[in-house]
Amino acid sequence: MLSHLQFPDHEMMSANTADIIADTIKADPSLVLCMASGHTPARTCELLVEKILNQGIDHSRLSFIGLDEWVGLPGNNEGSCRYFFEHKIFSPLQMDPSQYHLFDALSNDLETELRKMDQLILKKGIDLMVVGIGMNGHIGFNEPGTPFTSLCHVADLDEITTSVGQKYFKEVTTLSRGITVGLGHLMNARHLILIANGARKAGVVQRALEGPVDPSFPASIVQRHENVTIITDFEAASLLGKS
Ligand code: PGA
Repeated sequence: MLSHLQFPDHEMMSANTADIIADTIKADPSLVLCMASGHTPARTCELLVEKILNQGIDHSRLSFIGLDEWVGLPGNNEGSCRYFFEHKIFSPLQMDPSQYHLFDALSNDLETELRKMDQLILKKGIDLMVVGIGMNGHIGFNEPGTPFTSLCHVADLDEITTSVGQKYFKEVTTLSRGITVGLGHLMNARHLILIANGARKAGVVQRALEGPVDPSFPASIVQRHENVTIITDFEAASLLGKS
């Protein structure tokens, strides 16, 4: 089942997304949560931390999986996904390192990184997965053409991803590969939430929800998911029903 929640602005959609995540943790304290970093979920993460702390929600048994990472980027680089999660989630919640699982993008054995994450996901399953959508329709670093059955993998990044990705960095940064949880895992997540905001994303949201379901546009996979909630602001939803 696909449902679409729309809100007037990014703040309200972030608050509602954070509510859903917080309520899910409340209902199942040993939840396995897989999340994307990026500009779209940033506010959701901040509000989620506030809610967890203000409401005293038990997060001591929560397991957290980071969706992806730029290969070769150290975790102290402000544009890395590790930096994002450490500052927005792990440190404010004082999470124990045993609770979170991020790809080590500096490893010289990425194959082992991939298999470790695959095994973890296959063993525990992802209960809730929160992802964004890129300007080329990617989810995580599942770039156009990625098979819908893919497990964790290393991807050569699309030109759109490497140019749009510069927005996360203070200086021009060479980005060429990404390591990511694959679309096969996303399909098996018990609940998937895809978030998008801003007029810039209206075209990709329209294509994801109303275009052909095809690996050339990875986010179209949401149309096949059994339990997916799309959460957008009005701007990102503005082209729906108009083609
Ligand atoms: P953004 O990234 O949330 O920073 O727009 C989305 C993505 O590329 O997946």
